Amino acid sequence: MKSYFVRTFGCQMNKHDSERIAGLLEQRGLVVADSPETADVIVFNTCCVRETADDRLYGQVSSLKALKTGGRPDVIIAVGGCVGQRDGADVLKHAPHVDVVFGTHNIHELPALLDAAESGRPAISVLDGGDRFASDLPSARDSAWHAWVSITVGCDNHCAYCIVPTVRGPERSRALEDVVDEIAALVADGVVEVTLLGQNVNSFGRDRYGEPRFAELLRAVAATGVRRIRFATSHPKDLSDDTILAMAEVPAIMPYLHLPVQHGSNRILAAMNRRYTREQYFARIEALRTAIPGITLSTDIIVGFPGETEDDFADTLDLVGRVGFDHAFTFIYSPREGTPAAVLPEMVTREVAQERFDRLATLVRDLSFSSNEREVGAVRSCLIEGASRRDTAILAARTSHNKLVHLPVPYGMRADEMAGTVHDVRIIAAHPWFLTGEFARGQR
Ligand code: 5AD
Ligand code: SF4
Repeated sequence: MKSYFVRTFGCQMNKHDSERIAGLLEQRGLVVADSPETADVIVFNTCCVRETADDRLYGQVSSLKALKTGGRPDVIIAVGGCVGQRDGADVLKHAPHVDVVFGTHNIHELPALLDAAESGRPAISVLDGGDRFASDLPSARDSAWHAWVSITVGCDNHCAYCIVPTVRGPERSRALEDVVDEIAALVADGVVEVTLLGQNVNSFGRDRYGEPRFAELLRAVAATGVRRIRFATSHPKDLSDDTILAMAEVPAIMPYLHLPVQHGSNRILAAMNRRYTREQYFARIEALRTAIPGITLSTDIIVGFPGETEDDFADTLDLVGRVGFDHAFTFIYSPREGTPAAVLPEMVTREVAQERFDRLATLVRDLSFSSNEREVGAVRSCLIEGASRRDTAILAARTSHNKLVHLPVPYGMRADEMAGTVHDVRIIAAHPWFLTGEFARGQR
């Protein structure tokens, strides 16, 4: 029996797409392999948002050349996702031993491409073939209790630094009923938590219905009975009062929001084409905290955008401190060819960017730690995700506020058997990036 291995880089959308890639391969009778080295078909689902992911991909693809030259010439290597879309046939210039290249719009063509590659000639498909959503393909989910559900693909925002609109195309929404039907089927299949995915979920429906219908979608999803609803990513300019109200009113929507701010300086926000000011961002945060007391907030921040002065960076530190995020994902600006920012002069030097990044990272760590310290003593409803990465005797669980909690596997139980169940957990200690806890009495 032939086997496959899918390696995923980048965002949650790629994780979602990888489950569909796996679904298609399993439909062809392939079984999952433990490692790329033992697989007959190896698929790289790639990311090109920043240079680091890009470099890592070509490094890893190159290292697999030895498999082919070392006695397994029939191994098929496929490169898909954002690098496949961006580079097309040029993937073969970097890595001539690649057999299949497919783009972000072509996942459904993978079986045909694999057939074509068996003849020994590379098979490439990166053209946008219309309205095919990866969500309509079979899925081999990583988890029995959680599902990624894409609601939009692509992005119309054109932030100056971002390659996503180029490699994922314009924003397209799925039909509201299709999303709800998919989630109803997932619930019937035992899924307790869904994460709705889109580059800009708040504008869901705009292209299809002429106006955003995200708040309505959230309520319709909750009506399926799914226990926990999460979503990503939200753009501050499109986060509507209706959505905040739905978050406040619907118990299944988790009290956590990832709201990328990207920068704290109005000058840089304008240069980034983010289309909001720091004052408008503060106002959204206030509205969220008023409507949903105790909501946890995370963000994305870019350091070293072209022209960023020390004063601009001070605005970022100030904004992060004032909002008091519970967590932040921080990035050093990485120029991406073809984006508007790639041609901007005044690059911040690597050293200056790194030094600013380190200062921001320290602040983020402190904020995350204090946010965790505030949890100590609280009893939180936690969804068990399975064994922790390092130790099978320790469970990893998520509070509704999206905090990771480690707690011992109860005597006589197994971590994998408990995955997907919800329990009350008392938080007993805080660490910078996670909490430790114990089962509270009166388990649910
Ligand atoms: N350089 C650095 N960070 C970037 N991001 C997107 N494009 C770039 C880039 N060119 C970051 C943004 C985005 C996150 C997914 O990646 O913060 O929200
Ligand atoms: Fe990129 Fe901006 Fe679209 Fe996010 S909203 S995917 S950062 S262009």
